[in-house]
Amino acid sequence: MLESRIRDKELLKKVTTAEEAALLIKNGMTIATSGFTPSGYPKAVPLALAKRVKDTKEDLKVNLITGASVGDELDGELAKLGIIHKRLPYQTQKDCREGINLGKIKFIDMHLSHLPQYINYDFLGKIDLAIIEAVGITEEGYIIPSTSVGITPTIVQKAEKIIVEINTSQPLELEGMHDIYLIRKPPFRQPIPITKADDRIGFNYIPLEKEKIEAIVITDIKDNVRPLAEVDEVSKKMADNLISFLEEEIKFGRIPKEMLPLQSGVGSVANAVLAGLLKSRFENLEFYTEVIQDSVLDLIDADKVKIASGTSLTPSEKGLVKFYNNIKKYKNKVILRPQEISNNPEVIRRLGVIAINTAIEVDIFGNVNSTNILGCKMMNGIGGSGDFTRNAYISIFTTQSIAKSGDISAIVPMVSHCDHTEHDVDVIITEQGLADLRGLCPRERAKLIIEKCVHPDYKDMLNDYFKRALKGGNLHTPIILKEALSWHQRYIETGSMK
Ligand code: COA
Repeated sequence: MLESRIRDKELLKKVTTAEEAALLIKNGMTIATSGFTPSGYPKAVPLALAKRVKDTKEDLKVNLITGASVGDELDGELAKLGIIHKRLPYQTQKDCREGINLGKIKFIDMHLSHLPQYINYDFLGKIDLAIIEAVGITEEGYIIPSTSVGITPTIVQKAEKIIVEINTSQPLELEGMHDIYLIRKPPFRQPIPITKADDRIGFNYIPLEKEKIEAIVITDIKDNVRPLAEVDEVSKKMADNLISFLEEEIKFGRIPKEMLPLQSGVGSVANAVLAGLLKSRFENLEFYTEVIQDSVLDLIDADKVKIASGTSLTPSEKGLVKFYNNIKKYKNKVILRPQEISNNPEVIRRLGVIAINTAIEVDIFGNVNSTNILGCKMMNGIGGSGDFTRNAYISIFTTQSIAKSGDISAIVPMVSHCDHTEHDVDVIITEQGLADLRGLCPRERAKLIIEKCVHPDYKDMLNDYFKRALKGGNLHTPIILKEALSWHQRYIETGSMK
């Protein structure tokens, strides 16, 4: 059994317990791990580290770098014990989020495609230890990743030492699903030879110097995936608006009738909106995306997908069971790549990707906040949304028109934090309607967004605000600054911000 997972016989000698492996972690280290939008992250070693710190009460702090978000066993346990000093580039775990917002964890929120380059050039200092989850190790000592690839190819090159967690809950049949291509540094960098979403350009495994592997831990702890909210009426309306838009674009010849590759963001809203494609007439869909959620698996089941290329499989618990039970079918349709390839601007622009991401808040000019609730509370991070938005052929943002049971309008006079500027956003979709911002100046955009996307409860307020702003004389971007800011302050004061 073990030999089928660790095919390099020499490396069998490195098998040890999670407790022993965790002893390699020392105060002040920078640790980089596998894992992306919680899948394929190490679990046994972080849990053993947390137990050690609880038992010994030692004062231990580390910097933690991951591909994207990881689960409770890593972010949760370490955040609760105050072990994380600095964290990047993205997270979705509640204790970690709380630590960030209380100022106990220093968080760097960054574009996910930039991270491998930051690591490669030591912008983040040296990587002391990489901890990676794998389904197996090849005869040559190379890594067969599990349900995500993320930054693993980069960190195994850069880290001084490596711990591998072989996770037996992850099927060996995942082997062959990955496509590992390594980018060279400038001035020797070459074009990435992907011209279609289903192009395979690399290896099935992650190469590394096996001498750096200090410990191998065997575990069967499952990915602690996130639940996704059921598809509701509001999401169905957003999906209908999206599909009508895509159909119109095809009618006008702006999108070819075979469609262009789609990217879809993370979370319940993104999943529900994509689920709407099930009922559409679109066939042979291609995804050149970052995360592959339940709705993509459902579209594969409905035989509507030609290929889904991403860096991570992130289904719900139910979706993951379905994936494991039908792995042969999904294997032909899924490619998992390093995040610097899945999110690469060059490839996204070349393929003409249609990017569909979720906003927390949008302003009447088309600026988008995806990260900070009311401008000051970090939610998750920008993730890959900027990688796709800035480089897409058409960049779409969806959001429900209201939040917090209607206490807050998601469309505001001025975003309280800006992740995606008006220059990068083409289309806004809410359950109320769709605003196509292409070719419009700011005041034309404002008029259209208020007309099409705002909830009826907030329409009069926003129309009244905008009419008064127009009287201010600055007609390029009409704004009443004090009032635009107090729009958010009002929510903070009325206690809606919990
Ligand atoms: N004001 C205040 N709170 C708001 C809000 C607003 N305008 N809009 C949403 N929220 C709150 C919700 O109430 C919810 O709070 P809760 O967790 O306390 O219930 C939370 O934000 C998440 O909103 P939800 O509607 O459940 O959205 P989601 O699960 O679809 O996630 C994002 C939406 C924006 C947070 C998520 O898509 C994200 O992190 N995006 C950035 C990264 C990204 O896009 N990556 C993909 C690139 S491939």
